[in-house]
Amino acid sequence: MLNIILCGAPGSGKGTQSAFIAQKYGVQHLSTGDVLRAEIASGSELGKQIDALISKGNLVPDEMMYGVIENYIANLPKDSKGTIFDGYPRTVSQAESLTNLLKKYNMEAIMIDLMVDEQLLIQRLIERGKVSGRKDDNLNTIRHRIAIYHNQTEPIAHYYLHHGNYFAVNGNHTMADVFLQIMRIIDRESRQ
Ligand code: AP5
Ligand code: MG
Repeated sequence: MLNIILCGAPGSGKGTQSAFIAQKYGVQHLSTGDVLRAEIASGSELGKQIDALISKGNLVPDEMMYGVIENYIANLPKDSKGTIFDGYPRTVSQAESLTNLLKKYNMEAIMIDLMVDEQLLIQRLIERGKVSGRKDDNLNTIRHRIAIYHNQTEPIAHYYLHHGNYFAVNGNHTMADVFLQIMRIIDRESRQ
């Protein structure tokens, strides 16, 4: 089974590369951002609380995210080939929870970290903001999301480095080049 945690700053290409990986390797794509946006779109009370956080670029509390992931893993189809976790974990506490949850089901994951220069992140998100309709794709919120990433998410790299399943990828290149780097890692690691 192939489980991949795709990590990286806002605009680093997590969603883009997840789609490529899902198509090539037949794994499921779980984007926690998409799950949260679907809850907002449902118009529920919970969705309103989530909207207040996401639209300002703040993270949703760890406990709420844990429920989403626990439910997802518990309901994985028996014949699943694996999952790409896009945007989860985003805190060290979420990383610890995910390791424990995967262990409970005898699963493991590798972490692929997309490294992209800040100017490029901003450029990509401003460009996407012209058509995405995402409330968090404006310059102020983009800067805040990047700051949150540095403070809360970047430390998980050390967590995975320490656990020996960390792989960094240069995400500044074209989508195809980035995917080539990712495929090399996946193919090498899944042979072992
Ligand atoms: P989420 O939806 O995950 O957003 P994000 O992390 O801010 O990242 P994005 O989706 O904006 O970017 P991406 O890395 O997917 O890049 P993409 O491929 O789209 O989360 C949103 C919010 O939900 C969070 O802020 C938080 O509030 C909440 N949340 C989610 N998960 C949470 C969690 N676990 N805990 C707590 N809160 C959580 O690419 C961006 C653009 O660049 C696209 O237009 C694309 O076409 C283009 N592009 C991509 N790759 C390239 C390339 N190589 N060259 C040129 N252009 C490229
Ligand atoms: Mg995304």
